[in-house]
Amino acid sequence: MSEKYSVAIDGPSGAGKSTIARRIAGKFGFIYVDTGAIYRTVGLAACRRGIGSKDAQAVIDMLPELNIRLGYARDGQQRMYLDGEDVSDDIRTPTISIYASDVSALPEVRAYLMETQRSMARENSVVMDGRDIGTVVLPDAGLKIFLTASPEARARRRLRELLDRGAEADFEQVLRDIEYRDANDSARAAAPLRPAEDAVHLDTTALDFEESCAAVEKLIRERFGI
Ligand code: DC
Repeated sequence: MSEKYSVAIDGPSGAGKSTIARRIAGKFGFIYVDTGAIYRTVGLAACRRGIGSKDAQAVIDMLPELNIRLGYARDGQQRMYLDGEDVSDDIRTPTISIYASDVSALPEVRAYLMETQRSMARENSVVMDGRDIGTVVLPDAGLKIFLTASPEARARRRLRELLDRGAEADFEQVLRDIEYRDANDSARAAAPLRPAEDAVHLDTTALDFEESCAAVEKLIRERFGI
């Protein structure tokens, strides 16, 4: 069996993790695993049941009932399924961003999703992005990258993404959401957002998409000799 490579990309919301990770995975023929999408699907399930995002007990009680599946479309895009329904678009709203951030603070939710994430990396070469991939999910990943950018740069990118999808959004609101999630994701006790000790830090504030991808590609080639 050929060697399996794991690349962990962690960092705050809007640093460009998912777009860069997707491109890089395609380039090397690795599977891209967007772990934020899995947390978002749990958040969506809670929201649809009318559970408050901070109602920890109700969220925990819901977990055994959940039927969440990760799949890949023919074009290689990751899709998320909730009770068999493709919810890949429904999980991308600002409301569900907040839900995902809140439910992901619960250790029970994190434990519930751990095996799904690890099994992807056991079976495939992966580029996996999230908040705790290098620190908790894949502590033995061959390459760990901590991707950052200033809050304003991240808000500008997220705004463009939302507007491109036809969503209504304004800069101040997007910036406030990003700052809320930064604080939430970093301050929580369970697997907070922080760089692994052996992570390579990459600040993309002054880099465009192509430059960011080139920097990551170089790191992979150097580390794995591929
Ligand atoms: O990457 P994203 O914005 O789609 O993630 C949504 C939320 O899920 C984010 O606010 C934090 C949480 N998350 C997490 O706690 N751990 C991960 N590995 C990925 C996401």
